[in-house]
Amino acid sequence: MTGELSPIDKAKFVAAKRAVDYVEDGMRVGLGTGSTAAWMVRCLGDLVRNNGLKIRGVPTSTRTADLAREVGIDVISLDEAKWLDLTIDGADEFDSELNLIKGGGGALLQEKIVATASDQMIVITDAAKEVGTLGAFPLPVEVIPFGWQTTRALIEELLVSLDVMGRDVTLRMNGDHAFVTDEGNHILDLHLDRIGNARQVAMVLNQIPGIVENGLFIDICDIVVIGHGDGRVEMRDINEGTVNHDRLEFAETDNLFKDMTD
Ligand code: A5P
Repeated sequence: MTGELSPIDKAKFVAAKRAVDYVEDGMRVGLGTGSTAAWMVRCLGDLVRNNGLKIRGVPTSTRTADLAREVGIDVISLDEAKWLDLTIDGADEFDSELNLIKGGGGALLQEKIVATASDQMIVITDAAKEVGTLGAFPLPVEVIPFGWQTTRALIEELLVSLDVMGRDVTLRMNGDHAFVTDEGNHILDLHLDRIGNARQVAMVLNQIPGIVENGLFIDICDIVVIGHGDGRVEMRDINEGTVNHDRLEFAETDNLFKDMTD
């Protein structure tokens, strides 16, 4: 990507740039997926190539793995890493308790496994993703292809008894075909509008056979780094109960911004 960035891209970029300050030499770092996480991978690659930062990265999707290798990050599997110091990822929604909806990019399964296997999870985001109550963003649920229509029927039946506003469940498509995740599964998007009890919904969904994982991340995120289009950044730490502010200048080098496609 060259030329002037949109305010939303600036917001994503400053959040990503500020979040990589948390990364230290020798760390094993979970690398999220999505457009905001792609900025973070670029920023980390810049530090690896130009500042000698020594890290190993565990990507949460094949596209993040490709990007990480391209920018010079040493990529290892989660099984090689075993446990991670830190994961940095984007989100589709977050609330005041830093509970999240994730999976808009279809990578929620690896993202949840990697974030859960980390001492700390940092979410990078623009301010528009903060909500009072989760659910305006359709909740992604990863299901195995076998009997997915039965799984959908079971979900619809379950939703009747839950404190949610909408109940439409749609199969995510990729053109004419069902979207396929890195694990060969499909995604059902649950249009709930408002999730009254996200903890309960996250737990009961995973009881349905055929569901592999859902996109509600409860008690997983520790810090949210919120970027703004004017360079302001806010860091909220749920464990420390702190809120800090910063401001970053833009340095739009071709090196960092070219070929941004995620
Ligand atoms: C990928 O599956 C998602 O969980 C992303 O982290 C989330 O959709 C945020 O993506 P953007 O940073 O592109 O908005």
